[in-house]
Amino acid sequence: MSTRAPKKATKVFVAGHRGLVGSAIARRLEYEGGYEVVTRTRQELDLLDQAATHAFLAEQKFDLVIVAAAKVGGIRANSEYPADFISQNLAIESNLIWGSHLADVPALLFLGSSCVYPRETAQPIPEEALLSGKLEPTNAPYAVAKIAGIYLCDSITKQFGRRYFTAMPPNVYGPNDNFDLKTSHVLPALIRKFHEALPDRPVTVWGSGKPKREFLHSDDVADALLFLIEHPEASGLINVGTGTSVTIRQLAETIQSVVGHTGPIEWDSSMPDGFPEKTMDVTKLHGLGWRHRIELDQGIQLAYDWYREHVAER
Ligand SMILES: NC(=O)c1ccc[n+]([C@@H]2O[C@H](COP(=O)([O-])OP(=O)(O)OC[C@H]3O[C@@H](n4cnc5c(N)ncnc54)[C@H](OP(=O)(O)O)[C@@H]3O)[C@@H](O)[C@H]2O)c1
Repeated sequence: MSTRAPKKATKVFVAGHRGLVGSAIARRLEYEGGYEVVTRTRQELDLLDQAATHAFLAEQKFDLVIVAAAKVGGIRANSEYPADFISQNLAIESNLIWGSHLADVPALLFLGSSCVYPRETAQPIPEEALLSGKLEPTNAPYAVAKIAGIYLCDSITKQFGRRYFTAMPPNVYGPNDNFDLKTSHVLPALIRKFHEALPDRPVTVWGSGKPKREFLHSDDVADALLFLIEHPEASGLINVGTGTSVTIRQLAETIQSVVGHTGPIEWDSSMPDGFPEKTMDVTKLHGLGWRHRIELDQGIQLAYDWYREHVAER
């Protein structure tokens, strides 16, 4: 009989566990085993409340905190509510990241985003491109808050020797995505538009269709985050993507074919395109040994199946 004591589970707080990214990482850690996953709904713990968040972190003594809670939205929501985006994200990050440090949490993984890189920058975008140019105006307030979070993690790592680091996913999609057309990102919005259109009627899509975007299924994001957590050499800022992108036109046509819509696509070029291209350089991630598994057409089918089962009314 072995006399070795079983390894203690890593106690981890997944902040934002009901969201797209947070739910994927919470599911993955539960499935993996060896992790004691702790979650709180917004009603149980409002992360905008500094005193409550700091008290919770001090009491729980986590080994790891994953910051997947944020105020998130597409171009329209970012343009209409810029003050909410900057103030809420600054508060959530500061409460969680600085609160974790004060509570002596040794490791923290923060979720950044490819949309905080400069608007005009060489493609694919390496991690070093951060702050090398002007931000995309449609989401600059959100990006400034995210960049503050990245620097807070870096500064705590430098000053106090903790392992606080940031993963930068591209456009994420999958179970628990937001399909509300007023606030959603492009991929779930298109799934809904094509699903709700009569099969042979036109569907209007925002912009010119020319911008290029990179997409990663949330199960791949979760797999990559777990990989990074378990590889201590992963540090600083790490792009987490496929390193490839498609035009919005290609994306729309793929979704149209998965949904089975046969009508024309009309492009509303009076609406903003946002970034001309966002494709991340994933050399650092590939060098660490991680690669994505879910290709875009397969992932869209999975996302559409989930939408039909959980969201669609017909
Ligand atoms: N979605 C993407 O395409 C994408 C791409 C790159 C990076 N990311 C990053 O990944 C992270 C998560 O994004 P997501 O798409 O998963 O967002 P999401 O689906 O909107 O989930 C955000 C989560 O944060 C929670 N939350 C927000 N404010 C809160 C508060 N005051 N108190 C407690 N909980 C609060 C939400 O709670 P409720 O459930 O109560 O609303 C929700 O569970 C973000 O940092 C984002 O920048 C996302």
